[in-house]
Amino acid sequence: MNVDFPLRQTDRATSPADRAKILSDPGFGRYFTDHMASARWTPDAGWHDHRVAALRPYSLHPGTAVLHYAQEIFEGLKAYRHADGSVWLFRPELNARRFRDSARRLALPDLDEHAFLASVEAVVRADEPWVPDHGGEESLYLRPYMFASEAFLGMRPAEEVVYAVIASPAGPYFASGVIGVTLWISTVYTRAAVGGTGPAKCGGNYAGSLAAQIEAREHGCDQVMYLDGAEVRWLEESGTMNVFLVTADGELVTPMLGTILEGVTRASVLELATDHGLRAIERQIGLDELRDGCRSGGITEAFAVGTAAVITPIVGFKGDGYEFAVGDNRPGKTTLAVREHILDIQYGRVPDKRGWLRRVV
Ligand code: COI
Repeated sequence: MNVDFPLRQTDRATSPADRAKILSDPGFGRYFTDHMASARWTPDAGWHDHRVAALRPYSLHPGTAVLHYAQEIFEGLKAYRHADGSVWLFRPELNARRFRDSARRLALPDLDEHAFLASVEAVVRADEPWVPDHGGEESLYLRPYMFASEAFLGMRPAEEVVYAVIASPAGPYFASGVIGVTLWISTVYTRAAVGGTGPAKCGGNYAGSLAAQIEAREHGCDQVMYLDGAEVRWLEESGTMNVFLVTADGELVTPMLGTILEGVTRASVLELATDHGLRAIERQIGLDELRDGCRSGGITEAFAVGTAAVITPIVGFKGDGYEFAVGDNRPGKTTLAVREHILDIQYGRVPDKRGWLRRVV
């Protein structure tokens, strides 16, 4: 079904001078563009009121369901400026599909893939000058989300729902981005259990991860590395990223799906493995295997992947009473090559052989 998000241009757009100042050092998630897309849903009317209009605050009734029960999901994807000035999305169909799956898990209504894509593209077109110039690693981060907007305190799926897309110019997610991060292996907190909301991209999962992130920081680490909820033994994912290991015998290993997020960057890295002479393997990885492999040299590199963080080298792990380096405590060769490869595709510096890019402007 083709859906249109008609534009009502704001008359209070950020001045070109202020925008240029922001784009010279956007950081991550600090600034927002001038417009947002939105649509509303009720069981009777279905999705309606599609539009792109000025970014504006919500006025919410104190009883609004999302404030109490966290019935909410979101996505993250980026728009990239190529050398010729055109603007592209990277595999947005995968975000649309995951958004639909997250919606089903959180008992929110399905949003058609075409509507998802149309809304994201409409925001990029409306705020095209906010897409950073080609040349660095900046992009326009897009944040589609959906929440229960009905004011109602009973426990049932909300019958009023809001969908929206906002945008934020983005530089590196981690200040220590390419230098490498150290992860704290938590045995206090786990992220998900079989049958839970682990695979869904819902706000609750991220709220629950904040205490673990604080724990990681208290131990001098950049982020947490979660183990599984049942045995507290198998690697799951990092706070906001999927995790990969490179072995001395040419394997690229990552925890299998089930309770973790099915990352778009994760899926892409798995597909690129053969180009780097690696065999991609999705399986359970034990903490013992990680520790022993890093100490013996059987595991040579580790990295974390996500839309915001792209590919971030992991240079060491710490846990309760132990710590170990990965390789020589510096970003690995393969990690940096895969990172460059994915950025080259996203920024149009190499041919898009797999048809992963979608042109917007
Ligand atoms: C992303 O990588 O897009 C995410 O959603 C992580 C977010 C917490 C910044």
